Amino acid sequence: MKLTKIIFFMFMLLLGACGDNEETDSSADVMYHHNFRPYYHYTPQANWMNDPNGMVYYDGKYHLFYQYYPYGTTWGPMHWAHTVSTDLFHWEDQGIKLYPDELGYIFSGSAVADLNNTAGFKTGNETPLVAIFTHHQNITGRQVQSLAYSNDKGATWTKYENNPVLDNPGIADFRDPKVIWHEASQKWIMVLAVFDHIRIYSSPNLKAWELESEFGKNVGYHGGVWECPDLFPLKDEQGTVKWVMLVSLGGNENSEPNGGSATQYFIGEFDGSSFVSENEEILWADYGIDNYAGVTWSNIPEIDGRRLFIGWMSNWAYANVVPESGWRSGMTVPREIKLKKRQDNSYVLHFSPVDELNTLVDPQKTIAPETPANQIHMDYHEIIAGGSYQVEMEIIPAEIDQFTISIGNELEDLTISYSKTDGEFTIDRSNSGYVSFNNLFMHEIHCDYQATGATLPLTLLVDQNSVELFINQGEKVMTTLFFPRYNYKFFRLDGNTQNEFVNSLTIKALKKSMIR
Ligand code: FRU
Repeated sequence: MKLTKIIFFMFMLLLGACGDNEETDSSADVMYHHNFRPYYHYTPQANWMNDPNGMVYYDGKYHLFYQYYPYGTTWGPMHWAHTVSTDLFHWEDQGIKLYPDELGYIFSGSAVADLNNTAGFKTGNETPLVAIFTHHQNITGRQVQSLAYSNDKGATWTKYENNPVLDNPGIADFRDPKVIWHEASQKWIMVLAVFDHIRIYSSPNLKAWELESEFGKNVGYHGGVWECPDLFPLKDEQGTVKWVMLVSLGGNENSEPNGGSATQYFIGEFDGSSFVSENEEILWADYGIDNYAGVTWSNIPEIDGRRLFIGWMSNWAYANVVPESGWRSGMTVPREIKLKKRQDNSYVLHFSPVDELNTLVDPQKTIAPETPANQIHMDYHEIIAGGSYQVEMEIIPAEIDQFTISIGNELEDLTISYSKTDGEFTIDRSNSGYVSFNNLFMHEIHCDYQATGATLPLTLLVDQNSVELFINQGEKVMTTLFFPRYNYKFFRLDGNTQNEFVNSLTIKALKKSMIR
């Protein structure tokens, strides 16, 4: 299907002129986003959330813990809250599992299923789940690594009596342990963020840790403190295995790629002791500014061959002041990471929404317009009334130099533009609603991209207060928050050409998976 010159899908909401939702709207769907709650992204029921932690897949369930402050909507003494899911979208909250104690707040970390009971925590028939996290002593700032374990599939947790298992050698930033089982050397490997680099430790039993090597002092981007590392193997379609290191970067307003917090990655080799990066360039997991501290699930490759990622959908530059009320922050859509070999034989990662997202598609509310026909106006309310939908489209780069996707209402919009000449995507949210709570929030967001193929596939996920753009099957990603004053009512695609530049376009409503 080809669409004409200017594709213009403007589907006016049947509810009439926009006004302040609280005063004028009575529809449950419209009321829903008063406090910007997403439909299908994980959010805490109430209060503050940051990093995803302790992500482990065990006995058919995805466990997600997260940094949580239960007494307010800004960052405070950290706890681990817990939620579980069988499909990565419908989450059942399990409450708080780790509370601060005399060793400090419970900072970020990971969890593993200790299948061989190497730590000796097993008491019954269940495989012990073991959490490895940072204890942060608030007054001194001292950070050490500690353990907790569960013998009932994560329902209850006991802190290890001889914590910490890795003491602080006199380094201020010494945190966020991510542990994996290294099959070839039959030992546990921990990557730990240490201010401007990563330390790699090994252990036979999760309790005694030995320093193996250091990585990153002279590699990668250093415009901020390194946090939340992850190390894992990944196989490409030809069967080549590479090792991937993710490192989040707590930057400032001027940090790359777009200011504030971001996550870079390295692809290379790991021999059980040292990691060597083969990157020639700096690679980012996301350019959209609102995806931080993301890590991958443990015990996944052994189970279904997928490597799954989730990130905290915010940015430290403004996370504490975004206009959500009663709760703060969501997680990104869970993503599958794929390893791809480029034409020059270097490797990159592609991040795409997990296939489970398709189960939220409402087939009754899917439209693939042949032309910008009038009857589609009717469907807009059906499809996008809740502001939670997915757009799949294929652009023909040879036919177009610049196009713009905009979503918005009569007064506000967020635009995503592509310029072939400039070779970049730009997101402009300066007129997207509430923006003035932070300077960086008003900046344009850029992502270099040269469209080289015959078609350019784009997937756009919209969910009340976020857009996630997956460019060319996740080769580059942009995750960006926005806070509309009034309900967004339209999706548009405009091109600066007479040519037919759209190969296909489908809009699919996505059902609510989070009951909040
Ligand atoms: C990253 C981070 C981690 C730390 C946690 C504290 O966002 O700063 O380094 O463990 O948040 O909440």
